[in-house]
Amino acid sequence: MFEHGTIHHEILKRRAYNLRWATVPDGVIPLTAADPDFPCAPEISEAICKFSKDNYFCYGPADGLPEFKESMAEYFRKKRNIPSIPGFILPVDSAAFGIYITCKAFLSPGDEAIIFDPVDFLFRYSIESVGGVAVPFAIPPGTADAGFIRMEQLVTQKTKLICLCNPLNPTGKVFTKEELLSLAEIADKHNLIILSDEIWSDITFAPHKYTSIASLNEATNSRTITVTGFSKAYGLAGLRIGAIMASNAGHYKKLSDASLHNSTIHGANVISQIAATAALDKCAYWLDGFLSHLQAMRNLCVNELNSINGFTCISPEGCYVAFVDITGTHKTSSQIKDVLFNEAKVAVVPGLKEWFGSGAEGYIRLSFATSEEILKDALGKIKKTVNLL
Ligand SMILES: Cc1ncc(COP(=O)(O)O)c(C=O)c1O
Repeated sequence: MFEHGTIHHEILKRRAYNLRWATVPDGVIPLTAADPDFPCAPEISEAICKFSKDNYFCYGPADGLPEFKESMAEYFRKKRNIPSIPGFILPVDSAAFGIYITCKAFLSPGDEAIIFDPVDFLFRYSIESVGGVAVPFAIPPGTADAGFIRMEQLVTQKTKLICLCNPLNPTGKVFTKEELLSLAEIADKHNLIILSDEIWSDITFAPHKYTSIASLNEATNSRTITVTGFSKAYGLAGLRIGAIMASNAGHYKKLSDASLHNSTIHGANVISQIAATAALDKCAYWLDGFLSHLQAMRNLCVNELNSINGFTCISPEGCYVAFVDITGTHKTSSQIKDVLFNEAKVAVVPGLKEWFGSGAEGYIRLSFATSEEILKDALGKIKKTVNLL
C-alpha cells in the first residue's frame, strides 16, 4: 500500500495545494505541509461513492450524523480510554476550526492562553483572532521532561486556557502520563480549561505510548476539550473534517454556540462525516500499514539528516515530520530553506516565528509521509547541496 508505485504524481501535481506538489515548479520535491503523498484507504472512497449514488445531499443534523458521533465516541472510549458519549461530540470542518471554536467558546478579549513554543501556528492565530493573548511555554526540541511545573509561573488572573498539542508538531514529542499529570495539576489548581489537540495521536512510534489527557481522571476529563481530525492519520485534509469533544453538557453547549452550527451554519459537511466514519470503522488495517511505513521512513530520514554537515536531528516520537537543527551551517532557517529550494530542488518549512513560534529559529521542518524513493532522492539532494556550503 505504501510502495512508490501507489503514488499518483500527476494527480498530486493538480490537487495537492498548501505548499505542496500543485504549488511548486516541476522538479521540486515538496516535503512541506504534513499531508501524505499516498492515496487514502479505498474503503473511504467507496463510502463516499455509495452515499453519492443515492443522489441526495440534504441538510444533515446540525449536531452531526449519529453514525459519525457513535464511531468517534467508540474510538475515544476504546483507543483513548476516555469515557466518551456521542452527545458531547461535535463534528466540525477541520481540527483547525475545532481549535478556533474552542478558543472562541472559552476566551474573552484580553484573556490569556498558554501555548507551547515551538508549536503549530494554528494555536496562536486562533487565540489572537478571538482577542486573546497567547503566552508561550518553551519546550525546546529534544526535551525529555517538559517540566510543566514551571508553567505555573505563566499563570495570571487572566489565564483561562492551556493548549496542549500532543504529539507536538513540529518537534514530534509525545508526552508521558507523568508529564500530563503535572500539566493537569496546574489546570486543576487554577481552574483552567485544557484544549487537547490530538490530531497526531495515531501517529505515535513504538515504544512510545500515547496517553490522552482526558483519560487521566474524572477531574481532568471535566476540564478538557479534545480536538481531533482526519488529515494526518488518514490523509483526508481536503475533506476538512474533524471533531471536538466535551465531557459535559455545559461545555458542549458553549462549543456548539461558538461553532454557529445550530444558528446559521447547520453542521459539518455530510459527505466528509461519511468518509470519516468509514475511516474509523473500516481502516484500522490501513493505519497500521501507514504507521509501520512511517516508522521506517522516520529512521531513514533521521539517519540521513544526521549525516549532513551542520545538521542535527532528533528522532520524533510521533508526527511524520523531522525537525532539523541547522545552526551548524551558520545560516538562518530562511536561508537554508532558500538554498534547498533553489539548489537542491527540495521545499521545506523554515522555523519562522509565524509558522511555529520564536523557539523554532535555527530549525527546518520536513515531512516524511512519502515513498522511500522520493525521500531518498530528496535527502540525497539536500545532502549534496548542504555539504558544499
Ligand atoms: C497540531 C495540528 N493541529 C491541527 C492541524 C490542522 O488539521 P486540519 O487539517 O484538520 O485542520 C494540524 C495540521 O498540520 C496540526 O499539525
